[in-house]
Amino acid sequence: MSSPKLFAPGPIDVSPETYAAMSRTMIGHRGKDFEALYASLRPGLQEIVGTTRPVFLSTSSAWGVMEGALRNLVREKVLCLCCGAFSDKWFSVAKSLGYQADKVQVEWGQAIDPELVRAKLEEGGFDTVTFIHSETSTGVLNDLEGVAKVVKSFPDTLLIVDTVSSLSTVPVKFDELGIDVMIAGVQKALALPPGLAVFAVSEAAMARAAATSNRGYYFDFLEFAKNDEANNTPSTPAISTLFGLQYILSKIAEEGLENRFARHARTNAMIHAWGAKHGFEIFAQPGHQSQALTCFTTPEDFDLPGFIKALKEKHGFLINGGYGKIKGLTFRISNMGNETEATMQELIDAMDEVLAG
Ligand SMILES: Cc1ncc(COP(=O)(O)O)c(C=O)c1O
Repeated sequence: MSSPKLFAPGPIDVSPETYAAMSRTMIGHRGKDFEALYASLRPGLQEIVGTTRPVFLSTSSAWGVMEGALRNLVREKVLCLCCGAFSDKWFSVAKSLGYQADKVQVEWGQAIDPELVRAKLEEGGFDTVTFIHSETSTGVLNDLEGVAKVVKSFPDTLLIVDTVSSLSTVPVKFDELGIDVMIAGVQKALALPPGLAVFAVSEAAMARAAATSNRGYYFDFLEFAKNDEANNTPSTPAISTLFGLQYILSKIAEEGLENRFARHARTNAMIHAWGAKHGFEIFAQPGHQSQALTCFTTPEDFDLPGFIKALKEKHGFLINGGYGKIKGLTFRISNMGNETEATMQELIDAMDEVLAG
């Protein structure tokens, strides 16, 4: 049975070419072939992350490294910047690990105001901050530059940034902004099957990790750094996915990162225009809307389940009906990954046809 094409905000559609790249003959991870594969990924990953630091590969979903980053960095007290399902959950995860956790909470659909972050940090005692760049549940793109600037003005406070649904759709600039840990899963804009996360760690964060006990093994940043020096990973990685990543990075190099950002801006604008034409309001506050996905408010008289079902059954396209406490009240359409104006137009034509009845 063929599955619908995914226009949901992750996992997203994986191209046949990517699957083909992933189906190469298996290699062992403690040999020269693997070291060459690992080394070949570094420049492309460094470019999309905006760093000269290593970019580590974790065979886990993003949450593994999100939790791991807390275990490596938090001494006592963490501040979580909360504006949607994933950022709110990070606060619960921090508490579940036994840390003192506090939060800046804004209404879902709003972006984090850097000045709220400053006011909270001025209360003192926070050694770590968690922050989500693109809050996939609400479609908000937060002000990474503004928040990073504020956190950097508190010298002993480290900034962990989730770029799960923003990496490779907009610039991240890890080094320039002084981010301490940046994490993304490959099932979003990198258009790979789930199961792999990529992350970078600043020198300051590495020093903090070295001075932190109970880091565990699987997500120990020092293990990743030690193995990276030998072009390797601490434990057996998802090698097929790395073959796929090698292919995707070659496609990004071919397209050019700036062109990739521009393509995401254009395909995202097409969905905004489609929504405006039909009177669907964007859930995220103006000026802070993700370029990777769009979250629309569901009008009261709109049969959202019927719309999603017809789109899937008649046209073979899957969009997503909202997440967390706004499930049903919103719906989300992704333009991440390999989508072009032509493929987004196919979706738009299909959605128009369903709406026309
Ligand atoms: C912004 C954001 N953070 C974290 C996650 C969790 O990622 P994973 O399911 O790969 O652990 C997601 C998943 O959708 C996400 O969108």
